[in-house]
Amino acid sequence: MSEQYASDTLKDFVPEPADTRRVVVLISGNGSNLEALIEAQTHDALGGEVVAVVSNEPDAYGLVRAREAGIDAVVLPHREYESRDAYDGALIKVVERHEPDLIVLAGFMRILTPRFVQRFLGRLVNIHPSLLPDYQGLNTHARALADGVSEHGCSVHFVTEELDGGPVIIQAAVEVAEGENEATLKEKVHAREHLIYPIAVKWCLEGRLQYTGQGVTLDGTPLPSHGMRMSHADAAEELDEDIEP
Ligand code: GRF
Repeated sequence: MSEQYASDTLKDFVPEPADTRRVVVLISGNGSNLEALIEAQTHDALGGEVVAVVSNEPDAYGLVRAREAGIDAVVLPHREYESRDAYDGALIKVVERHEPDLIVLAGFMRILTPRFVQRFLGRLVNIHPSLLPDYQGLNTHARALADGVSEHGCSVHFVTEELDGGPVIIQAAVEVAEGENEATLKEKVHAREHLIYPIAVKWCLEGRLQYTGQGVTLDGTPLPSHGMRMSHADAAEELDEDIEP
C-alpha cells in the first residue's frame, strides 16, 4: 500500500457506533415532546432511533405522530388490567420486546411501580414541567403562578421510585412575565421542553450521561443537583421569543 493511499483512507474514515441506539417512548396524550424527538432524529441529532411508541390511551394523538413517522405505535390500555402491577408487568414485556437502550417518558400519565422502575433504572428518563425539586406532581404552572414566582421552567430527570424525585439532567428556565397566565406560561415551558429533551436523550444515547445512584455525571463529571441549566435568555433566543428590554 502506498503512503498516499494509506493516509487518504484514514482521512476519509468516519467512525460510527457499531449499532444504532434504540429508544422506546411512552406517552398518554398529545405527544409534542415525542414530535421534538422525531424531529431531532430526522436531523441526525438524537444519537439513535425511536423504535416504538407505547400509549396507555388508545386515542392519544402521539400515536398518530408515531405512525406518520413510520414508527411502531403500540396501544396498551391500562383499563384492561386489574391492577397496576399486572399492567406494569405487561408494559415491561412490550418495552423489552423492542430491546431499548433508553426508555423515554413523554407525557406518560401513570405512576410506575417500583418493579418497572427498578427494571430500567438508569435507562429511564422523564420530562417534568417545573424547575425540580419545585412543584413535583400536577398543575405545576397554576401553582407557580399562585405563588408569584419570578422564574419557572422544566426539567429532564432520571426516574427513580420517588415521583418526580430522580436526579436532574437538564433544566430550562423561563422568566414569568407581567400579566402572565397559565396558558401563556404553559406554552413557553412546553417550547423549552422541546429544546432540552432531545439534548438529554442524545447525551444518554452517546453514553455521556450516567446515573450513578447518587446523582448524574456528564462526561464523568458530577452535575449539580439542578443538572445542566439553559437560561431564560438562551432559550428565548433559540425560540425567537421577544426578549423584554
Ligand atoms: C409535558 O408538559 C411534560 O412536561 C409532561 O407531560 C406533558 C406532555 O406533553 N410530563 P406532550 O404530550 O409531549 O405534548
